[in-house]
Amino acid sequence: MMETVVISLGGSVIVPDSIDYNLLKQFKKVVSADKRKFVIVAGGGKVARNYISALKNEGASNSMQDLIGIEITRLNAKLVAGVLNLPFKIPETCQQAKQQWKKQRIVVSGGFRPGITTDGVGAEIAKAIGAKTFINYTNVDGVYTKDPKLKGAKFIPEISYSQFNKMLAGVKEGPGMHFILDKHAAKIVEQNKIKVIILSGMDNLKAYLEGRKFKGTVIN
Ligand code: UTP
Repeated sequence: MMETVVISLGGSVIVPDSIDYNLLKQFKKVVSADKRKFVIVAGGGKVARNYISALKNEGASNSMQDLIGIEITRLNAKLVAGVLNLPFKIPETCQQAKQQWKKQRIVVSGGFRPGITTDGVGAEIAKAIGAKTFINYTNVDGVYTKDPKLKGAKFIPEISYSQFNKMLAGVKEGPGMHFILDKHAAKIVEQNKIKVIILSGMDNLKAYLEGRKFKGTVIN
């Protein structure tokens, strides 16, 4: 069976402030040139966080905050699907994602349900379709020993699932907030031995997909 690569494309990458149309066009080129199957999960980024914080200020529940975040991920997913000339109908559950994946070479999804993130969605889909590789394309180039803005932070090119989980242990999560890969996603990839690659930059993604040298953190 043809291999599938799952890519979580961060909202911070799709819409840093306004839509990064140039990046989307480059992304289209990279995915079009590749022969494998792809599932792309679009994130919500700053736009989602802005919507979430407005509702949070008004005392909305966590699930309402999540639901408005999900709407933004779906809007971004439709944008990515449109750029890739794919149907506008995006999956809203793992089952729907799997159905589309059976018929299409490329599937684009947004969020699924409150309480998770688009990284969690990517991990759930990877598990459901038996994908072995999960790329988290975000705005940081990988995992560091501590906050990369702090002095003495060192880049980690490769880390085991268990070491990564130790780093996650003290991280607080909530609507619009999570670490580079959240706990739900981290659990699924570990249990199913799905290799995670955290990277940034289109040239880097291209290099990874073509089996060339790239900068990023591999979790396995
Ligand atoms: P993201 O997962 O995209 O989070 O969804 P993010 O922090 O914006 O990540 P990047 O920057 O795109 O990588 C935005 C928010 O939408 C809700 C969560 O509140 C999440 O923080 N969400 C998303 C869900 O509740 N369920 C989902 O399936 C997806």
